[in-house]
Amino acid sequence: MEKRNKILNIEQIHTYYGVSHVIQGLSMYIEEQETVSILGRNGVGKTTTLRSIMGLTPPQSGTINIDGIDTSRWQPHKISKIGVAYVPAERHIFPGLTVEENLKLAARPGNGKDAWTFERVCDHFPVLAERTNQDGATLSGGEQQMLAISRALISNPRIIIMDEPSQGLSPLLVQMITDVVLKFCIKSGITMLIVEQNYRMALKVATRHYLMDTKGEIVKVASTRELVDDPEIIQSHLSV
Ligand SMILES: Nc1ncnc2c1ncn2[C@@H]1O[C@H](COP(=O)(O)OP(=O)(O)OP(=O)(O)O)[C@@H](O)[C@H]1O
Ligand SMILES: [Mg+2]
Repeated sequence: MEKRNKILNIEQIHTYYGVSHVIQGLSMYIEEQETVSILGRNGVGKTTTLRSIMGLTPPQSGTINIDGIDTSRWQPHKISKIGVAYVPAERHIFPGLTVEENLKLAARPGNGKDAWTFERVCDHFPVLAERTNQDGATLSGGEQQMLAISRALISNPRIIIMDEPSQGLSPLLVQMITDVVLKFCIKSGITMLIVEQNYRMALKVATRHYLMDTKGEIVKVASTRELVDDPEIIQSHLSV
């Protein structure tokens, strides 16, 4: 099989909150245009892993390479500038700004006709198009998640990192967000890293999965096929 470029490569990172040693030697990688998930119980350090990548809680040791460049000591704005978009679990929609303003603040030029623009987002997300002048904070949970994902897309990133996109959503809305991820993010050829506790969603969108344990380490890497064929793997690592 053709070997693709590792667009994200994390080696042996250790991340702390004060003296609390949360990530203890985590290594993982994502190849270009791959969709990968991180699965793990409550509090194991999934969000901290994403915060480490984004420079929000940088690792104290170890390396994070993005496209071959060591970004592990970079500021968050510099990491987003090289094309890494972060969709946090809290979505961080700017209150007091309209849907249109939320989107336009995040917009960055992309390449060619497939670049995401405000107009293209409106064409593809009618729910948002109907609400462009509405305060972003007044949207429902599902609409806010859609706005948060659209805001990532409109920055025309190379990598999108999503923290529990299905959190707090009804099964119907989880299905809708799953479709959005499959239809727009993955079809656009964007590399994706998705953290989920909803492993059913993760199995639908990602092809490779990293399972984390309580020490903030990766204990298992498996393909979707392996996890579907042997549900025991997920049961033993994710059930409470
Ligand atoms: N700002 C912080 N200061 C101190 N400790 C923190 C902070 N944020 C998280 N932690 C602790 O770090 C550990 C990992 O938290 P993290 O949020 O990364 O886990 P998670 O896997 O994303 O959990 P969840 O499933 O709840 O989202 C937890 O024990 C948590 O209490
Ligand atoms: Mg979390």
